[in-house]
Amino acid sequence: MNLLIMGPPGAGKGTQAEVLVKELNIVHISTGDMFREAIKQGTEMGKKAKEYMDQGALVPDEVVIGMVKERLSQPDTKGGFLLDGFPRTVEQAGALDKTLASLDIKLDGVVNIVVPLDKLMARLTGRRVCKGCGASYHVIFNPPKAEGKCNTCGGELYQRTDDNEESVGTRLKAYQDKTQPLIDYYKGKGLLMDINGDQEIKKVLDEIVKALKK
Ligand code: AP5
Ligand code: MG
Ligand code: ZN
Repeated sequence: MNLLIMGPPGAGKGTQAEVLVKELNIVHISTGDMFREAIKQGTEMGKKAKEYMDQGALVPDEVVIGMVKERLSQPDTKGGFLLDGFPRTVEQAGALDKTLASLDIKLDGVVNIVVPLDKLMARLTGRRVCKGCGASYHVIFNPPKAEGKCNTCGGELYQRTDDNEESVGTRLKAYQDKTQPLIDYYKGKGLLMDINGDQEIKKVLDEIVKALKK
């Protein structure tokens, strides 16, 4: 299955993707994770991306599009993929269509996680992420079993540099201005599945699994 997962910052894309890719045995392609990895490795692209990410602004389209094109042409995507956090602009969606067509790949569905925007600040400022495997936790909504440690890999938990009130404000605005129009884009293609993301994590997953079976 070739899928997209979209939704505002903090909607739960990463949380759901982590489980979904295991259940469906497909690869998880998160552009945010790819940029954070590039920053960690100290690459030129990482340095460029960091300036935008720390502020909560979108990284320029040409940088993101090039990175995703390269990733999608790798052989492990042949068994299916879940794209998380891409596309985020109309330009990116157009580029994705072209790339998929050139690789002879069809998109099977778009999971759109819907959460009222006023709930997202608390989710993001309370998030903690595993340094080892990237799993997302929340100090209140989804705490790890042992404080500061990942349940699955034992890795140390940290707070993302863009999970502060100022950057989150900018990210929410970028979502509304640039990404929300994609909802109609994918609705028009008959691919959109609206999922209620404002319920327990497990219930969100159940709703996604049900929608994918249809
Ligand atoms: P990215 O890493 O994609 O960040 P984002 O879109 O802002 O989304 P998040 O990862 O913050 O949220 P999520 O939906 O994954 O939520 P999560 O599951 O962790 O991008 C970061 C930056 O990279 C961008 O700002 C941009 O600069 C750049 N970038 C990336 N892609 C780009 C692109 N295509 N174009 C241009 N720039 C790009 O959950 C959040 C919290 O909520 C966690 O604490 C979790 O435990 C909790 N939670 C999850 N589900 C629930 C629930 N049901 N109930 C209660 N709490 C919940
Ligand atoms: Mg994420
Ligand atoms: Zn971990």
